[in-house]
Amino acid sequence: MRHFLLIVIAGVLLAACTTKQKVEELNLIPYPVELEQAEGALLLSSADLNVSLQNIDPAFGQYLNGLVKQESGIEFKFSETGKIRFELNQDLDVKNEGYLLSISNQGVTAKAKDQGGLVYAAQTLRQLISVDENNVVKIPFLEITDYPRFKWRGMHFDVSRHFFTVNEIKRFLDYMAMNKLNTFHWHLMDDQGWRLEIKKYPKLTEIGAWREKVGFEANQKKGLNTANTEPYGGFYTQDQVKDIVAYAAQRNITVVPEIELPGHSAAALVAYPEYYCDNAGDLEIWDQAGVSAGVYCAGKESTFQFLEDVLAETLELFPAEFIHIGGDETPKDTWLACPDCRKRMEAEGAHDEHELQSYFVKRIEKYLNANGRRLIGWDEILDGGLAPNAAVMSWRGVAGGIKAAQAGHDVVMTPMFPYYFNHTQNHREESPGHPGIRTLRDVYTFPVIPADISEGNRAHIIGVQGNMWSEYMPKFKHIEYNLFPRVYAIAEVGWSPAQRPWEEFYGRVQSKLKTLEKYNIIPGDISYHVGINVEPNYADKSAKIEFIAERPDPIFFETDGSTPTKASQIYSESFVINKNVHIKACQFKENGEVNMISEKEIKFHKAFGKPYELKHAYAPQYDGGGKYGLTNGFLGVMVGVEEKPVDVNIDLGEVTEVSKITTRFKNQPMGWVFGPKEVRYLVSLDGENYTEVAVFSPGVIESDVNEVLEYPKEFEPVQAKYVKIVAESVGVCPDWHPAAGGKAWLFSDEIIVE
Ligand code: ACM
Ligand code: ZN
Repeated sequence: MRHFLLIVIAGVLLAACTTKQKVEELNLIPYPVELEQAEGALLLSSADLNVSLQNIDPAFGQYLNGLVKQESGIEFKFSETGKIRFELNQDLDVKNEGYLLSISNQGVTAKAKDQGGLVYAAQTLRQLISVDENNVVKIPFLEITDYPRFKWRGMHFDVSRHFFTVNEIKRFLDYMAMNKLNTFHWHLMDDQGWRLEIKKYPKLTEIGAWREKVGFEANQKKGLNTANTEPYGGFYTQDQVKDIVAYAAQRNITVVPEIELPGHSAAALVAYPEYYCDNAGDLEIWDQAGVSAGVYCAGKESTFQFLEDVLAETLELFPAEFIHIGGDETPKDTWLACPDCRKRMEAEGAHDEHELQSYFVKRIEKYLNANGRRLIGWDEILDGGLAPNAAVMSWRGVAGGIKAAQAGHDVVMTPMFPYYFNHTQNHREESPGHPGIRTLRDVYTFPVIPADISEGNRAHIIGVQGNMWSEYMPKFKHIEYNLFPRVYAIAEVGWSPAQRPWEEFYGRVQSKLKTLEKYNIIPGDISYHVGINVEPNYADKSAKIEFIAERPDPIFFETDGSTPTKASQIYSESFVINKNVHIKACQFKENGEVNMISEKEIKFHKAFGKPYELKHAYAPQYDGGGKYGLTNGFLGVMVGVEEKPVDVNIDLGEVTEVSKITTRFKNQPMGWVFGPKEVRYLVSLDGENYTEVAVFSPGVIESDVNEVLEYPKEFEPVQAKYVKIVAESVGVCPDWHPAAGGKAWLFSDEIIVE
């Protein structure tokens, strides 16, 4: 440390006698842990661009040259006496993947003790170099001591729903390395295609890698891809995988393969139906979104032999500490109807299908542990009992991550809000990706370590990751569009020790966006979306309203449902309301147009903030905003229940006069979300005897239009302490639906009692 300070002072002195420049904005992403900038900059002519590599493989020099050439157009030469010096020293006192970078009149010195540190010193240097009109290279004087906050800084990439070439994978890895991300979670197989060559089971790729057509017709409708008739698919040979793993390693990226099991396995099971439950019917390789019935039979011993064989070849290819085994969204009904699976449940004392999945995962974990590896899986592996050494990837919100960390398991945080980058980041109709916006700001400001994790268990959060599911991104340019600029946010969350002010980060992102042309990347537009946060106060029957926008432009709003104009109120700070409002808010583009208007209705109705019981639990990822999701006063954030009815009993707390009830449900069939086929309203004074006050029987609606269905009913005033709503689910997707028979969702909004 003392040494460090001396250098800073020396740098300042030298600078003072040479150039008198203002300290510059460095625009580094991710922001370094310690940065001391001095006035002035090192100026190098093209003859001075010599790099000396101490104790470093010359291949690193090639890599470094590639980086600076793309960004600044310059090329380094290599010599013992270079003014730019990179040094690898295993005894150096820095953290893993850390580096020291010093730039003074003496030159540039970068020191690291491992490959990660070298790569990251190079990535920081790349961002610091500028070249003036006389071809003089300028690098600002500074001292950096830098190292990562988390050991797992990941990006996931789904190559099953759409296939991407080796070169595209390499570009993806380049983008990760540019942002000091170090873990590539490669989602290699799913219901829509198996992409990894396994020599012992050639049909996995001969058959499992190909589907009849591109599918995902919504993409064709949007013009994202064209031909839909050819067989579609592809896979990576083992040689290609080795090449990719080596390419990643040079960039300090570990490739974590995902061998998805037991569900999401239609492609494997079409190739090898003998590992499916007998009499479970036929499977197809899917060409649409959703989850097929394809699941490995948990009863047959041969299933485990097959999976261990697949894993054996996988371990040969991937040296990673962790192997991802999926574990999400397992269709377990097939198991319950299978005699082999039933027998297994009995033999293993598994009381239900969740415990059978737990048996499955524990058995796979034993194999991985015996071969020196660790298992990581999606948070459903918690259901039915977590395998003893497993790490958990929390995607259905953060609840799974909290539970796992509190139980002493390692966790990677990748909650679908906001870390699913396959969702759009703006409201342009033509943007590729899933609906449901996750803005750059959402990603940057999300609290990655939940307060509910006790101090002693926080270290179990080993990292963060952005996920990229490719259903609605058929081309690599769509991946780039959704990756940028959000990759900057996840990078900084994963690397930098503290969150910095949003406006400051936004400014650095602006400077980065200017460089993307050099990479032929078209980033997603920064949103004009205005977030409306509502913080209900149930005791007070009031709510605090806060607006959040990405852009520093003014936010205009109205509270009576009218459309904001430039004459509307301008937001300055949060405010409290205690009467019904219909808020509309927006920002205006420079040309005066509005990209989108955000709105939220808040109703202080008679069930506002009242507790309720749901007979069938909502899915954790669709919690409607938490405990009071159905009575929190605001409309638009829905509670999602799979297959079962929304059967809810609200306790009004005291006998109350009720004369109107309104329910709202989402109908979005192409997202497997259907309005109820019947809705009944009942009231009760004692919680035992109920009187029906309304019934709606829309039946199964045959429509692929996204809409909110509203069922208002006024009736003669009645006295009630309890209000019960029973909304019958369609259960499974109807015959006319592309996924006929698959489990359907029922999404309920606020239940408004007046
Ligand atoms: C997931 O998104 N099904 C992990
Ligand atoms: Zn079975």
